[in-house]
Formats: sequence, C-alpha cells, structure tokens
Amino acid sequence: MEFLDLKTQQKRIRKPLEKRINKILDHGAYIMGPEVFELEEKLADYCGVKHAISCSSGTDALLIPLMAWGIGPGDAVFTTPFTYVATAEVISILGATPVFVDVYESTYNIDCGMLEIEINKVIKEGKLKPKAIIPVDLFGLPARYRIIDKIAKKYNLKVIEDAAQSFGGSIRGKRVGTFGDVAATSFYPAKPLGCYGDGGAIFTNDDSLAEECKAIRIHGTKQDKYNSEMIGLNGRLDSIQAAVLLEKLKIFDEELEMRNTVSSCYRKFLNNSQYLPKDYQSALALFSVVLGSKEKRDDLITRLSKNNIPTVIYYKFPIHLMNAFKYLGYSKGDLPISESLSNKIVSLPMHPYISREDINSIQLITKNK
Ligand SMILES: Cc1ncc(COP(=O)(O)O)c(C=O)c1O
Repeated sequence: MEFLDLKTQQKRIRKPLEKRINKILDHGAYIMGPEVFELEEKLADYCGVKHAISCSSGTDALLIPLMAWGIGPGDAVFTTPFTYVATAEVISILGATPVFVDVYESTYNIDCGMLEIEINKVIKEGKLKPKAIIPVDLFGLPARYRIIDKIAKKYNLKVIEDAAQSFGGSIRGKRVGTFGDVAATSFYPAKPLGCYGDGGAIFTNDDSLAEECKAIRIHGTKQDKYNSEMIGLNGRLDSIQAAVLLEKLKIFDEELEMRNTVSSCYRKFLNNSQYLPKDYQSALALFSVVLGSKEKRDDLITRLSKNNIPTVIYYKFPIHLMNAFKYLGYSKGDLPISESLSNKIVSLPMHPYISREDINSIQLITKNK
C-alpha cells in the first residue's frame, strides 16, 4: 500500500501531458511560457479570484506578499506552530517575528480566541508592531476566516491564507484562494493539486498587490528586465510544471470527490479525526487521527507498519520547539494543544485511488487498538 499514489494518476494524464511537453520542447519558452499564463487564467477562474500569480513554490507564495507589504524587523506576524515549517520560516527570513498562537483541538487550525489574546499581549508589551496573520488551512480544512477577518479589521492587520494544503477547499461554496487579503498555495507533488517539481501560486483580488507580487517574483522588475524597481527574487514557475498542472486541473474536481469518498469511509470507523465544521469543504490533502496518548499512537504506527501500511506524522515537532526557532524563547508547555497533537497524531494513507480492500485492512488494524 502507498501513502500517496501518484502513479495511477499519472497513467490518466500521461498522453495529453506528453503532448503538452512536446509542444514546450518545440516552442522553447521554458520559463514563463504560454502554459504559465494559461494556467494562471484557469486557476483564477477556478477560485473565483481576480489574480492568480504562479510562482516557484508554496514557500515563495507566502514570502512574496510579505515582501510586497514591507514586513520586516520590529513586525509581529501571528501564525500557528502546528504546521509545516515554511509558514513561520518566511516571517523569520524577513527579520520579522513569528508570534505563535495555539490551535483548536478539534480542527487543528488557529484558535481565534487565542489569536486576539496574543495580539493584545504584543500591543501591551509594545516591543513589536502587529502587522499580519497567517492562518493555515491544515490538512486542507480552511480556517475560520469570518472571525479572522473581523479580528484583522479591528487591529488593522493583513491576512495571508496559507492554503498550501487546501487548494480546492471551500467555506459555504466560497473557494480557498478568496479569503483574507491574499492566499498562497503549494503545488509540491504531494499536494492535492501538485506538479512534478516545485511550484506555487498567489491569489488576490487586490490589483496593486498583484502587480507588486508579479514584479517581486522576477527580481523586482516591472517594465525593464534589467532594471529592478525593488528587491525581489527568482520566484517564477516553469512552463513544464504549468503543463502538468493544466492536465491535472482537468481531473481535479473528480479527484476531490474521490478523496471525499475515502474520507467518508475512514470516518465510519475512526471517530477521532479532524472535525469538519458544517459548510466547510476540506481539500483532504491528508487524513489524520489523534490517539489517546503518544504510546497508543506509536503502537498503532508499529502495527500498521507490520502490515505494510505506511503512515507519516504531520507534525512531530511543533515549530516553537524546533532548534531553528529557539531564538524566539518559547519553552515546552507554552502552546499545549499543538504540543499534545504532535505527540498523539498520525496521518493515514490518503489519495483518490485507495482501494476498498486497502481501507478494509486499515479498519481491521485500527479496530484492534
Ligand atoms: C502548510 C504549508 N505551508 C507552506 C508550505 C510550503 O510549500 P512548498 O513546499 O511548495 O514550498 C507547505 C508545504 O508542505 C505547507 O504544507
């Protein structure tokens, strides 16, 4: 059994993809070729947003808007520690300070009550200037944007949705990519919509922010390729990756449905998985369960592994306890829900092509816990 099966999917798209790649080999525009612009149009249409700006990774999709806003030393950016390291890394790279907010035990997404408490703490301390919030749509489930937007307005903060795992998700029919001031997704191969390398995209309805982001992704250039208007980076998507995404986008909705079916099957026999609030649609990038203790979690992993069923722990280390973030001064116990989840959570195989037999074998083993 595979944790993630990309081969079956590849068989479905291989022929039209080869045709597209051959076309790129013929026209030779390997970077920012016509496929990139076709993809951007289709992505914007899909999400129902004015601008989709493709870029080199999900990490750069987060970094570029922060650069456009001029986030830097002395600024506080609020996010959760129970996410992939990239979410906090982009804040630190710019010299700003990540301020970690704990997550809800049920959804693993940012706890809005705690968010307001942390913002007020920063204001009271007076050392940092609150500037932005990066809510993470963990495992594909959108965060609570109605409440987050209210808090952002109250404290005059920008919101950048970390939608690296949630492209395809929605709240009350409104798609991921349309929440906050800007959203960032990843096309890393393991994501629900993934390419065959690194890739990402930025989504926004803000015309001037879109212009700045487009410039930053090409070394800060606007009119003249060799005369930079601002500090930027090499953040472009290449044409072959765009071609992969264009073919995968054609079967994406069908695959989301298939992921939904897998999730429903899992939920019939697992009652300790991520809570899905009413009217929220997750992109189901991952399917995780929380066990009663670290020992029970580790025991389940061992039993599944003995039966050749792969698992992965997302996330074994909450970011505030990683060596790289020691300089922020957090200690064990500061963010108890994130720490507890790290000890008790495990992700099961999740992809559109899991067979009934595979789900049945997982059921058999989890039943005997
Ligand atoms: C929540 C989250 N944010 C950001 C990223 C970074 O995306 P990328 O790997 O494309 O740079 C990831 C990738 O796994 C992610 O899961």
